Amino acid sequence: SEKLIIAIDGPAGSGKSTTAKLLAKKLGYLYIDTGAMYRAVTLYAIKNNILNDEKKIIELASDLDIELKFEDGQTKVRVNGKDVTDEIRSLEVNQNVSPVSKIEGVRKILVQKQKEMGKNGGVVMEGRDITTVVFPNADVKIFLTASIDERARRRALEFAQKGQQVDIEKVKQNILERDRIDSSRDVSPLTKSPDAIEIDTSNLSIDQQVDLILEESKKVA
Ligand code: C5P
Repeated sequence: SEKLIIAIDGPAGSGKSTTAKLLAKKLGYLYIDTGAMYRAVTLYAIKNNILNDEKKIIELASDLDIELKFEDGQTKVRVNGKDVTDEIRSLEVNQNVSPVSKIEGVRKILVQKQKEMGKNGGVVMEGRDITTVVFPNADVKIFLTASIDERARRRALEFAQKGQQVDIEKVKQNILERDRIDSSRDVSPLTKSPDAIEIDTSNLSIDQQVDLILEESKKVA
């Protein structure tokens, strides 16, 4: 059957990764977490101490060799051959990723890579601008949402599962701050495309979320 492009956008903690991963597995598609790419650039901007220099961050984005590989249920991220899978999920990266993602030159470079990665179809790609900018003509376009309390709860649970105790109030503040910057930036802000199907996951199980999108996929396949 035809290999579709399934695009999923939504704010932090809305269930994009969990849903996209499982959906890709069921369809035998490639799962692409675009947030991991913005996180990788941010991590190296921190390492190189250039957070306040946009020009250097853009150069960095074009120089870094960012490799995403889905293995053992997670996206393994390598930058210039080094495994940074855990490092890109740190609180420090969380706090700096939205300002880095606002930079037009950075987005240009990463969007180009994402278009290349998905061009043959058979992908579930998730992020903030996949339905609007990267693949505005995707076969299936989904916008996931959830209440802020539920999103904060999920993120805190993820940290706890990695053995990191975090203050849920801090997690909530970080999510709200990232949403604010991501939604208000000039270049490809996080927004619901008018033709995207909105799914509120606050009270849905993961299987329900996946099934809803599978149904949409069957309609167009
Ligand atoms: O999806 P995740 O929460 O890991 O994304 C981290 C950050 O990367 C977002 O808060 C946003 O600033 C940026 N991002 C983006 N465009 C995408 C994916 C992520 O600007 N397509």
